[in-house]
Amino acid sequence: MMNNLSILFSCFMIALVNANPALEEIPLHCPSEGVYGYPHPKSCDEYFQCTNGTMSHEFCPNGLLFSQTGHVVGMCAYYWNVDCGDKTVPKPMSSPGCPYQFGFFAEDDRQPCNVFYSECAWGVPQRKQCEPYGLFYDERIKGCNWPDQVGCSSESLLQFKCPDDDHSNRFWPYPRYWYNQQAIITCVSGQPRLIQCGENSFVDANSLSCVEQPKADERLRPKIGGHGRHF
Ligand SMILES: *[C@@H]1O[C@H](CO)[C@@H](O)[C@H](O)[C@H]1NC(C)=O
Repeated sequence: MMNNLSILFSCFMIALVNANPALEEIPLHCPSEGVYGYPHPKSCDEYFQCTNGTMSHEFCPNGLLFSQTGHVVGMCAYYWNVDCGDKTVPKPMSSPGCPYQFGFFAEDDRQPCNVFYSECAWGVPQRKQCEPYGLFYDERIKGCNWPDQVGCSSESLLQFKCPDDDHSNRFWPYPRYWYNQQAIITCVSGQPRLIQCGENSFVDANSLSCVEQPKADERLRPKIGGHGRHF
């Protein structure tokens, strides 16, 4: 009876030690099949990977950090999508056009209104333009956003100036205007937003909204529209 109790007690102690999450996170033996990632206890850009039973110590490229989701390279995601807690985070490693080796960055961060941004991979920038037309790069969301949200003016970009206080517009306080067959303009805080109709839809001049139309005439096919993009 006494023996059984002490065995029970020992098991209980082992269970307590195993409950320590730091010990549990990285297994002593990899599962024999599949690919699994385990966070490094101290460093946010390092991790351990089990690949079909074999463990390896991996490092994320600069600008990426270990994550279970949103992978860009290996098991690494963009740094702004990863919460590191109090783990160490590597310093930026810049190269011409790229503050980090990986990420999205305003083309010219000395001026606030960028239509262009750089998509960096392995330290090489690729020049990208915000789409659809009329959006500006917004560093806070690492993506493109409406001009009024970024504090920029799209008047010259869209060649359109919102009329002052157009209360007679039936869409007030967000007055709408005809732009072309595939797009309307709506004014928000005095700044024009270009709203493009989706594929196979066109602006109906009476309702000033997009209406679906069968693709009868290929020449009139509009570009695919969209909204602010996040990455
Ligand atoms: C792991 O093993 C499976 C089954 O044998 C195989 O199909 C797969 O390619 C392997 N994966 C890697 C990353 O080696």
